Amino acid sequence: MKQNIYDNQIFFKEYASLRDSGVTYNDFVEQPTIKSVITTLKGKSILDLGCGTGQFARYCIDHGALKVLGVDISRNMIELAKKENNHQRIDYICLPMEDLELPNQKFDIIISSLAVHYIENYSNLIEKISGLLKSNGEFIFSTEHPIVTARKEMNNWVKDNEGNKLHWAFDNYQEEGKREQHWYIDGVIKYHRTISTLINTLIDKGLVLEQIMEPQSVPVGLRQMPKLINEERRPSFIVIKSRKGS
Ligand SMILES: C[S@@+](CC[C@H](N)C(=O)[O-])C[C@H]1O[C@@H](n2cnc3c(N)ncnc32)[C@H](O)[C@@H]1O
Repeated sequence: MKQNIYDNQIFFKEYASLRDSGVTYNDFVEQPTIKSVITTLKGKSILDLGCGTGQFARYCIDHGALKVLGVDISRNMIELAKKENNHQRIDYICLPMEDLELPNQKFDIIISSLAVHYIENYSNLIEKISGLLKSNGEFIFSTEHPIVTARKEMNNWVKDNEGNKLHWAFDNYQEEGKREQHWYIDGVIKYHRTISTLINTLIDKGLVLEQIMEPQSVPVGLRQMPKLINEERRPSFIVIKSRKGS
């Protein structure tokens, strides 16, 4: 089942105002890491899966990319992307990434930023991505860390009576599949996969593993969002860089 939660108006309003604040996990933890592992954007063709409002597409163009194709399931996101991050070398398509068919195109770099945990069939997606990469092309993605998605309700901090975070609970790790979380609204669906599945599927589909990052906050993030100190206790995200064999 493909859930399009970003077209739920209550969810979208909350999410959009969070991202507009510029004070988020994306800004201080995830995006700096994704950007740090890209070899170069200069002259490259980029596919951004789950592109959201096109901020990263725009970043690619600003850093010399030849062209970017952004794909997102959400009409809300694509409308904003076309409005806020429009450029003649960026195209946006509103489509589930699982349904993307581009028989005559291959890309130098495929990025997916915090969208893969919404995808039910990871193996099919990675096969598709591998087919869309040029030889030596890079696939870089971030996803919620398996230690975050493992427990059934993804409600992981164990707190004392004053609300202090005592420790992080961890369970159900080997039980892959659907999780339902309350995130602004009930019923946000994500998919849990083990680290071995995340990595071995890439290898099975012809990609060579290059780097794994479990990011912490950049220093400015710790000043603006003190709770990011908790990334030292457990990582929220995992970023994986792989390359298509030649
Ligand atoms: C957390 S947001 C990240 C957006 C963007 N990558 C960024 O970093 O700003 C996740 C995005 O994935 C999109 N998404 C979720 N499931 C998808 C699917 N099956 N196909 C394409 N996009 C999807 C959502 O609509 C949303 O825009």
